Amino acid sequence: MTQPMPALIGHRGLPDKAPENTRASILAAKHHGIGWVEIDVTMAGDGSLVIMHDPDLRLFGQPDVRLADIGRKELQQVDAGSWFNPEFQGEPLLFLDELLSLVSELQLGLNLEIKINDDLETNRQVMAVYETLKHADLPTNQLLVSSFNHAALAQLRNLDNNVQIAPLFKTLPQTIPASLQQLQPVSVHCSQSRLTLQQAKQYASHYPLYCYTVNSAERFGELLQWGVSGIFCDHAHAPEMLNALTFH
Ligand code: G3P
Ligand code: MG
Repeated sequence: MTQPMPALIGHRGLPDKAPENTRASILAAKHHGIGWVEIDVTMAGDGSLVIMHDPDLRLFGQPDVRLADIGRKELQQVDAGSWFNPEFQGEPLLFLDELLSLVSELQLGLNLEIKINDDLETNRQVMAVYETLKHADLPTNQLLVSSFNHAALAQLRNLDNNVQIAPLFKTLPQTIPASLQQLQPVSVHCSQSRLTLQQAKQYASHYPLYCYTVNSAERFGELLQWGVSGIFCDHAHAPEMLNALTFH
């Protein structure tokens, strides 16, 4: 098994410099020398695949507007930047097709996290993501698809034997689930907050293990010593953080 990603991945782009999951955030990651970005995709009511973390517009000050009730046209009107800083007023939301063109143009690796919108049918969402990925045809080793929804990943695996897949866990199960094998994961991703040394060693001896979200050099160093392969980071100082870790 080859290690799919570098030790440092920009979480939602580079969200301490620009609004998360936007073109500006991805450009900021590129600007700061980050080679891979983790980006969330979810679905709206008309089947549009929009680059967002939540199933509603709460981040943009409209908590009562659910994605399931709107479509691409309404989403194109959303100001995805002002909440972060007035300097980003008018920053548009990206759609999956646009995201794939952007990372290809910038030659960035992409960890696409599928956020299944529980208001909509899971199968429909996975099919739509699969069709869009197939159409874009990114190099296999520059794309990795993850999700907390392992049924969605299993569906994707059935559709495509070659795509790189990684299950996400908030807490790793005490023993490695047998079901993981069927996914043929290229790596396993988990929260750093509840990870123990024992779990890290166990999982890392079977799969490259990546942790979200790590913003301190001390914790980064500790996790690397535990056998973790890499981290998702919010900060622009991330590349310096990596360089400072002489034992890496
Ligand atoms: O993929 C790692 C991480 O992004 C998972 O959590 O909530 O930040 O999408 P979240
Ligand atoms: Mg994510």
